[in-house]
Amino acid sequence: MSSAPFVRIAELPAHAGQTVVIRAWVTHLRSSGKIAFAVLRDGTAICQAVFVKNQLPAEVWERFAHLTTETSVEISGEVRVEPRSPGGAEIGVAGLTIIGPSPIDYPIQPKEHGVDFLLDNRHFWLRSPRQRAIAVIRHEVEQAIHDYFYENGFLRVDTPILTAAIGERSGLFATEYFDLGNAYLAQTGQLYGEAAAAAFGKIYTFGPTFRAEKSKTRRHLTEFWMIEPEVAWNDSEANMKLQEDFVAYLVQRVLERRKPELAELERDVSKLENIKAPFPRLNYTDAIALVQSKGSSAVWGDDLGAEDEALIVADYDKPVFVFNYPKEAKAFYMKENPDDPRTVLCDDLLAPEGFGEMIGGSQREDDYDKLVARIKEEGLPMDAYEWYLDLRRYGTFTHSGFGLGLERTVAWICGIQHIREVIAFPRMMHRLRP
Ligand code: 4AD
Ligand code: MG
Repeated sequence: MSSAPFVRIAELPAHAGQTVVIRAWVTHLRSSGKIAFAVLRDGTAICQAVFVKNQLPAEVWERFAHLTTETSVEISGEVRVEPRSPGGAEIGVAGLTIIGPSPIDYPIQPKEHGVDFLLDNRHFWLRSPRQRAIAVIRHEVEQAIHDYFYENGFLRVDTPILTAAIGERSGLFATEYFDLGNAYLAQTGQLYGEAAAAAFGKIYTFGPTFRAEKSKTRRHLTEFWMIEPEVAWNDSEANMKLQEDFVAYLVQRVLERRKPELAELERDVSKLENIKAPFPRLNYTDAIALVQSKGSSAVWGDDLGAEDEALIVADYDKPVFVFNYPKEAKAFYMKENPDDPRTVLCDDLLAPEGFGEMIGGSQREDDYDKLVARIKEEGLPMDAYEWYLDLRRYGTFTHSGFGLGLERTVAWICGIQHIREVIAFPRMMHRLRP
């Protein structure tokens, strides 16, 4: 249709005064009879296309009348820098081709929709400016994670998704695996990460993890992404240092590079500017006393529930570590605390503003006999853990690591109340489509 160069909308300001072609979707339309406007979205940015009746061939002007929301179009015209227009640039239209019409029953209309309806139409919902802002911030966090570990000398190791039943206590998804019985979708990459740490020193995994938890809370997905560093020779103290340095880096990176997206989400950035190491630390026993003083019925020995976590973080404007939980509240692989063997050397990092646990971490039990005893106590199948026990038989070592839940972290940074909105296609107990 035109020999002008095809450019993405975000690149328009660099083409001021030139004639270009853009391909995009229509988001808004407005016409006054002699002049008409279409706001266009191509995922990189938005811009306004201006149609002036007496400067256009009649058929181009008439074609404007066929545009509807979400019609895909190719438009040629001259780029004008226009600070008052959405996106900062506009196009004075010379040509218009309709690529894909969009019937007027497009499901998402400019009115309030219920969240179930929006989730049923997630494939369309993603086209909204708010969803784009969330996706961009998630991407920034993912890239920042890789950059942080790369710059700090960690090796990325990809651990298996199909496993033979090892991991955390929560439910497993099973699938048939040839003649070997059931395979289970990984709940964590940690145990493999420990083997890799003995081989490579400082490693991290970044992958999907699966939990068949019948939890319908705003913090649970059945499929979520977890980042799990594992570091040879780090004790629990060094592990917490790494966590606060890492989390502070992620937040500052989003603040530096994604201010427009935070503004789109109306995020109060003053709450994020404050997120710098060190983070406050409470040992578990003090945490229990604190929540009891605020009316919680939790008793020493319990894991902390979402309500208790909210009571704890209410006193702080940074993430808070709760460390050294009772053994029975935590996983078998955590190292017994030599100063108080009722507890283990572990920590949960609780996000501020009530977003709850975003990290679970620990020093790992490196004593062969103690680990065997814990596996037996938990009634776990010893044969599945033989290779894991080998790590204690052959050159055992002090080591620690943690798992950061990507969706909970991104939800907190974005200020989004339910984590289902921070993953493109959420998987939950009652949702497998789209
Ligand atoms: O505390 P968790 O269960 O720890 C582990 O899996 C360890 N193996 C990690 C390690 O030490 N390498 O899970 C870690 C984090 C939680 O703090 C939370 O952020 C997230 O994973 N998470 C979930 N996120 C969304 N939906 C769920 N169902 C989640 N379960 C855990
Ligand atoms: Mg946990």
